[in-house]
Amino acid sequence: MKKILITGGAGFIGSHVVRLFVTKYPNLQVVNLDKLTYAGNLMNLIDIENRENYRFVKGDIVDASFINELFEIEQFDAVIHLAAESHVDRSIENPLDFVMTNIIGTVNLLNAAKKIWSPSLGKEIAGKRFYHVSTDEVYGSLGETGMFTEETKYDPHSPYSASKAGSDHFVRAYGDTYGLPVVISNCSNNYGPFHFPEKLIPLCINNIKNSKPLPIYGKGENVRDWLFVEDHARAIDVIFHTAKNGTTYNIGGHNEWKNIDVIRLLCTIMDRKLNKATGTSEKLITFVKDRAGHDLRYAIDSTKLQNELGWKPSLQFEEGLEKTVDWYLANEEWLERVTSGAYQDYYNKQYTQ
Ligand code: NAD
Ligand code: TYD
Repeated sequence: MKKILITGGAGFIGSHVVRLFVTKYPNLQVVNLDKLTYAGNLMNLIDIENRENYRFVKGDIVDASFINELFEIEQFDAVIHLAAESHVDRSIENPLDFVMTNIIGTVNLLNAAKKIWSPSLGKEIAGKRFYHVSTDEVYGSLGETGMFTEETKYDPHSPYSASKAGSDHFVRAYGDTYGLPVVISNCSNNYGPFHFPEKLIPLCINNIKNSKPLPIYGKGENVRDWLFVEDHARAIDVIFHTAKNGTTYNIGGHNEWKNIDVIRLLCTIMDRKLNKATGTSEKLITFVKDRAGHDLRYAIDSTKLQNELGWKPSLQFEEGLEKTVDWYLANEEWLERVTSGAYQDYYNKQYTQ
């Protein structure tokens, strides 16, 4: 039975990836390594936590000796690396946290994988794989036209995207220098269930529910290319199992929206779901000071992934957003507990590194 390490599996995207791999591949042993920061929550995995092929390990990827020991004991066959500090606004406040987790943490994982796989490096490394999950934000900002391809030059503008760009470079460097079997994907903005309510869409769902202002940075004209999180998890599955070593794939939904239009659509859906008069939630929209270094537009060209590996996004945005709203309205307890931090405290006491 193969053993795979998924880092950051208690977070938003990681929990969807863990769920998909645990349920779809019963012969794969999945170890979820997560520090359980404010963004990680084992409540996200309650439905699969007792599966025989799943195990949780609490730990910090910045702690090199812990990571080396874990790899030595577990002898993982593969890694899917999602653990990261992921919020741009927090990176503007505390850039060093992002350097530590996103760059140092990634290099620690690369070193540990290199150490246990070194006897087979340079030969055909059947079944070994280091898959690094990254973002389209490494490419910087687009003007009115154009799209990011796998060949677009890196041009990060925020401490978050700079730290992710740094980690991508290290992953490629370990592939080129040591023959580590690496793969990278760069995905656009995700949305869906279990998204921590500091990011635009879940924040606004939560605020509409509580009749609080919806803070829109600048004029709301920045464009993001939104992808339903389960489609991202499916793309990771396809790339993990079929991509050649050393390749990169862009993942995106061909689904560009101005922030203000996303929030207007969300308001319409929420008014309907909450039986409020049309226009009620829109009154909560409040334009606030723009984010420093705010990238104007992201748009992903995922032709390579679609043509070479046959992946496609499954949902239209309207449908995905409605599904997301339904999930948040049906999971008020989750929302309440992650915003209060109650479950972080509970799980952090239950598990030690
Ligand atoms: P998230 O913030 O929801 O989850 C991150 C997880 O990593 C949390 O469970 C957290 O506890 C864990 N973590 C943080 N620091 C850690 C450390 N030092 N050691 C171990 N675990 C640690 O993030 P997300 O939105 O799920 O993003 C997952 C990955 O996907 C990230 O690498 C991110 O850069 C990338 N990504 C995200 C998006 C998006 O729209 N959210 C888009 C493209 C790529
Ligand atoms: P966010 O969800 O933080 O993702 P990212 O910065 O990684 O794209 O933000 C999405 C967009 O929404 C981005 O252009 C910033 C904007 N935004 C707001 O206008 N208000 C908010 O309160 C937040 C969190 C984001």
